[in-house]
This record gives sequence, structure tokens and C-alpha cells, in this order.
Amino acid sequence: MADSAPPPASPFARLGGESGVRALVDRFYDLMDLEPSFAGLRALHPTSLEGSRDKLFWFLCGWLGGPDLYQQRFGHPMLRARHLPYPIGRAERDQWLACMASAMQSLGPGAGLDEALQQRLLEAFFGTADWMINRA
Ligand code: HEM
Repeated sequence: MADSAPPPASPFARLGGESGVRALVDRFYDLMDLEPSFAGLRALHPTSLEGSRDKLFWFLCGWLGGPDLYQQRFGHPMLRARHLPYPIGRAERDQWLACMASAMQSLGPGAGLDEALQQRLLEAFFGTADWMINRA
């Protein structure tokens, strides 16, 4: 009876809600801070990553199907416009995606991120990250 099937859980719910999204964002920025291969990406960010952590956390809650915490604070994200001050080419896009892939992988199924969900989210992140490219 397809009509009575429960709606599929959002990625936000599968990650365990706000605390799960926060854990993902924290792992993402911890890796960006520590891994030499993400040094170029890290260098684009402010010295303190506290504000970046909060903003990405608020944004991803909505993007993953939870509450629109970013929009409530700042209005429409206009992500591409907000990234224009930072030179983003393919190398920066790929570092961002590799950093997020690594964060998801290190949290893994115990945090609700099984292989299939990691793959699905990575494809969606690719679309957003690719759209952020603003220089050759
Ligand atoms: C393509 C490579 C990307 C690079 C190099 C990049 C870099 C940056 C930098 C340097 C900032 C400023 C941080 C700060 O003000 O503390 C930023 C802000 C932000 N980024 Fe990215 N980013 C990328 C992709 C993405 C993607 C794919 C997303 C979402 C899925 C995203 C979401 C955000 C958000 C929500 C902010 C805060 C915007 C604001 O309110 O100012 N970024 N990004």
C-alpha cells in the first residue's frame, strides 16, 4: 500500500537532527584545519573558524531537510554571491568536496551516514560546490 507508506526520512533526521549536523560541520572544519592537503582551502577562511562553523551548521540544517536556521537569521542564502569575494576554481571546489567526503566517511554509519547516504550527499554537494566556481 504505497499510499500508507511513511515518508522517507530526510538526511537531517537520519543524521540525528541538529546535533548530528553540528558533528558533521565540526569534523569538516577540524579536518580543514589539520590536513595539509586542505591548506589552500583553509587559507581562504578567517583565522578563527567559529563563525564559519556556525554559518555552515545553520545552512546545512535547512539544506538537509531540517529547520531553515540560516534563512531565519540572514534571509535568502545567495550562496554564489556570498562566495564571490573568495577565488574559487576547480582546485578549491575539489578540496571542499574532499574535505566533506572525509568528514562524512570518518563519522560513518554510526552517525547515520551509511555508504549510500554519503554518496547521495556527495553528489548533491558537488552540484552546489560546482556552482560556486567563480574563476577559471
Ligand atoms: C566550492 C568550494 C567552497 C569554498 C572554497 C568555500 C569557501 C568559503 C569561505 C572562505 C567562506 C567564508 C567563511 C566565513 O565567513 O567565516 C564560506 C562561507 C560559506 N560557505 Fe562556502 N565554500 C565552498 C563551498 C560551499 C558549499 C558547497 C556550501 C554549501 C553546501 C557552502 C556554504 C557556505 C555558507 C553557508 C557560508 C556562510 C555564508 C555567509 O553567510 O557569509 N560553501 N565559504
